[in-house]
Amino acid sequence: MQIQVAQLDGIELERVRLRLLSDGMPVRDLIRPEVHFFTATTETGAQIGWGGLEVHGGDALLRAVLVNPVLRGIGAGRALVDALLEEAARLKVTSVWLLTSEAEGFFSALGFAPTHKSLAPPAIRNSEEFAWHADSHAVCMRRAVA
Ligand SMILES: CC(C)(COP(=O)(O)OP(=O)(O)OC[C@H]1O[C@@H](n2cnc3c(N)ncnc32)[C@H](O)[C@@H]1OP(=O)(O)O)[C@@H](O)C(=O)NCCC(=O)NCCS
Repeated sequence: MQIQVAQLDGIELERVRLRLLSDGMPVRDLIRPEVHFFTATTETGAQIGWGGLEVHGGDALLRAVLVNPVLRGIGAGRALVDALLEEAARLKVTSVWLLTSEAEGFFSALGFAPTHKSLAPPAIRNSEEFAWHADSHAVCMRRAVA
């Protein structure tokens, strides 16, 4: 699937942040400068979903990857994560980390491997995302960026 990603800022970022917040996602801090948040669309402009990278030096935390429910199961999620990994490489990131409760299989298929939360760098461990999942059974995963 061909998709395009574009970084959001200003009022558009706030609009999406409020929407994701109302869906119960941990996105209060999305407007911090280290968070690069993207919208994904098809070539024809249809909205596919969103996702972000919270960048701390050579490490980044994958944030709020979400595909529009009516477009799931047709490769949009894979295309979105691939595009975010390309953005990570452009930002000189060498390791991407994430926490997931329900999509470990999805991320495994994309090259992420389970690891222990304690192995994440301090800036990642101190993120809103890690605080949100402090008492959950979410799996921590990591992938090197080529
Ligand atoms: C997880 C999510 C992004 C997947 O998006 P999607 O567009 O349905 O994924 P794709 O169609 O690209 O699927 C790619 C592969 O992953 C598999 N897959 C998709 N969701 C999966 C899941 N939750 N668990 C395990 N495997 C999954 C697909 O079967 C497919 O496998 P295949 O290549 O062998 O056919 C989407 O379901 C979503 O937005 N979920 C809610 C938010 C969420 O959980 N985000 C992740 C944590 S930040």
